[in-house]
Amino acid sequence: MTDIVTKLTDFSKRFNADLEKCFPTINGTENRAVEAMKYSVMNGGKRLRSYLLCECAALFGVGYETAFPAAASLEMLHSYSLIHDDLPAMDNDDLRRGKPTCHKQFDEATAILAGDGLLTYAFSYLSEAQIIRPEIRLTLVQMLSDAAGAFGGMVSGQTLDLYAGDIEVTSDSEAEKIISRLEEMKTGRLLRYACEAGAVLGKAPLDMRQIIVGYSRKIGQAFQIADDILDREGDQQIVGKTLHKDDSQNKFTFVSFYGIETARQKARQLVKEAIEQIAVFGDHAENLQNLAHYIIERNH
Ligand code: IPE
Ligand code: IPE
Ligand code: MG
Ligand code: MG
Ligand code: MG
Repeated sequence: MTDIVTKLTDFSKRFNADLEKCFPTINGTENRAVEAMKYSVMNGGKRLRSYLLCECAALFGVGYETAFPAAASLEMLHSYSLIHDDLPAMDNDDLRRGKPTCHKQFDEATAILAGDGLLTYAFSYLSEAQIIRPEIRLTLVQMLSDAAGAFGGMVSGQTLDLYAGDIEVTSDSEAEKIISRLEEMKTGRLLRYACEAGAVLGKAPLDMRQIIVGYSRKIGQAFQIADDILDREGDQQIVGKTLHKDDSQNKFTFVSFYGIETARQKARQLVKEAIEQIAVFGDHAENLQNLAHYIIERNH
């Protein structure tokens, strides 16, 4: 556990230094949106998606420099999703990564624009990355927009997250299906993209790519269960977000559905299955194995 935390910390230091360089200052009042974008992206964050992307790429012989633009654009897009998730019209949160949310630090209009700016810049940055071959770049742009979008991607998941309460659920199995679908879309798709993008960068054969996707699905679900458990039982100072939001906003989560103990067992089982998925890579996938454990053992 300490080993993977150290690796993630070392990775974050290098990655953050490179990420910061992606945001030039522009002249005039319009720089306010850029400031808000930078504030949100550079405001901490575990960099899990970037790390996953770079580790999966490394499995197929792709180095950090080539993976970086894909990881950076994903982190930009992820930060946009958090800015909008925190808005008063959505989860109405004041605290993110231990600091005021973007709309609290700036204002609501600036936060909406900063989110828009990050979403568009993510695609601009990725599509201009000369270090990635053009056909792979195009594939990544398409995969990322699908993963983030409104046709079964993150936007669909966020929509379901907000309106699942309106669905008349008649059985437990129906509720379970809704929660699985919700979590798969709102969180799972971007984590899946992180892993799959690494495989695509490395031109992994289809069977290997499928193994990586299998791993990503398991850790994606485990990741959201851990997020939901932290919302219920975490330490707010460490988690850096306002807690007990899921209960107060009547969110559909595995924790509210199964209770905390069953949710925890389910997360452990998912991690075990995720690690089994990547057994074929042996020791080469050691970091991915350890990361799977970290995903549910983390305290923030
Ligand atoms: C939080 O993601 C949003 C969810 C999908 C639950 P992370 O926990 O990865 O957030 P940061 O980037 O580390 O702040
Ligand atoms: C948000 O899920 C997932 C996103 C797509 C941003 P949550 O609403 O549970 O995330 P937190 O707990 O605010 O980070
Ligand atoms: Mg939310
Ligand atoms: Mg939220
Ligand atoms: Mg949450």
